[in-house]
Amino acid sequence: MVGLLNKPGYRYGAYFHIPFCDTKCVYCDFYSLTNHDQAVRFYAALKKEIPLRLLADPIDKPISSIFFGGGTPSLADPADLGDCIRILADHVPIVQNAEITLEANPGTLTPEKLTSLLSQGFNRISMGVQSFSDDDLKFLSRIHSADTAKKAVNDAASAGFSNISIDLIFGLPGQSAEAWKRNLEQAVNLPISHISCYNLIVEEKTPLFSWVKSGKIQVPDEDHNSELYEITIQFLRENGFEHYEVSNFCRSGKASLHNSTYWSWDPWLAFGPSAHGFNGTTRYRNFRNLGRYLEFLESGKLPEEERESLDSITCTNEKLMLGVRTVEGVNIEQIWKDLTAGDSKNLRHKLDWFEKKGYLNWSDSFLKATPEGLRFGDFLAGELFIDPAV
Ligand SMILES: C[S@@+](CC[C@H](N)C(=O)[O-])C[C@H]1O[C@@H](n2cnc3c(N)ncnc32)[C@H](O)[C@@H]1O
Ligand code: SF4
Repeated sequence: MVGLLNKPGYRYGAYFHIPFCDTKCVYCDFYSLTNHDQAVRFYAALKKEIPLRLLADPIDKPISSIFFGGGTPSLADPADLGDCIRILADHVPIVQNAEITLEANPGTLTPEKLTSLLSQGFNRISMGVQSFSDDDLKFLSRIHSADTAKKAVNDAASAGFSNISIDLIFGLPGQSAEAWKRNLEQAVNLPISHISCYNLIVEEKTPLFSWVKSGKIQVPDEDHNSELYEITIQFLRENGFEHYEVSNFCRSGKASLHNSTYWSWDPWLAFGPSAHGFNGTTRYRNFRNLGRYLEFLESGKLPEEERESLDSITCTNEKLMLGVRTVEGVNIEQIWKDLTAGDSKNLRHKLDWFEKKGYLNWSDSFLKATPEGLRFGDFLAGELFIDPAV
């Protein structure tokens, strides 16, 4: 099974959304609350949700990865998270070497907590570092300093985590190419095996959005962001990281199994408010509201707000979009049967053209980006989109 987990088609993930944070960061649009009054009720409800979800969406493969995201799951009592893993394991098989990740804010980790997380079964930690500049961290309203973040990474390694990832954000207001490169230099000197580098998104309804809209803050233009992205790719490659998805880089063999599940069109279960799941044909989403979420589960109902069975063109478009964003790619065997003769001819023509350019590889059964093509993943995805109305 170990080798098979690296292949699309053999994976089934489980995502748990923990909706609490210490403070709300000015750029963040994820569903999270700074009022923790309902935390005890929430963990009780989350544990009840597991068997209910499995009744609605039974799974046909063992679970290969579990990911606790948020919000700030590292604020939770590790025993509550461990209970969720054990309840899941009581209902479905989990592969022996499953990847079990905790998303963590470095400002919430202590050596004791890290040891406790290991004993609950976690074997991977993904830390939201964002920057190694204290000025950037203050601007982003993070609760930690650069030194705290470095200490948290080192503490995780000393505790026994051999799979540590960090998130960084580039394209911050006033961030020069040199300043961004200094971030990368500090990152690669830490005991990490994975880095996600995200271009700052100015999300609506965040304080950052109003500052940018009112002109109080200016974000860099696209050319500057492209330069920072190119620096990222080159620097991380030179320092032993493989670029395997548009925003993700890893040391050999340390790609995120859980995120690869999303990117290769494999299914995953979802638990917690605002969580999205996919069972292979149908997508669902839970209420993005803790009150509604609790109300439903406490009366024995699944807290699902939306459920959508995907039509064949939507499936095709999603597979194409995902396929051109990873070097692992997606299985596209099915899509030719679902396309009209005209769409199929047109798509084959475009795929041939991008293959000649060296941006992707394809056959009748798979589609994947080349390392060169990854830098244009978003552009390629737009070019391959099939308009259902035509
Ligand atoms: C759900 S957040 C959770 C991580 C954890 N709560 C923390 O912040 O430390 C996952 C990652 O998304 C990225 N992110 C969140 N909002 C973003 C935005 N507006 N633009 C770019 N990246 C963002 C950050 O790098 C963050 O670490
Ligand atoms: S800690 Fe993470 S999830 Fe919470 S508000 Fe900040 S970025 Fe968002």
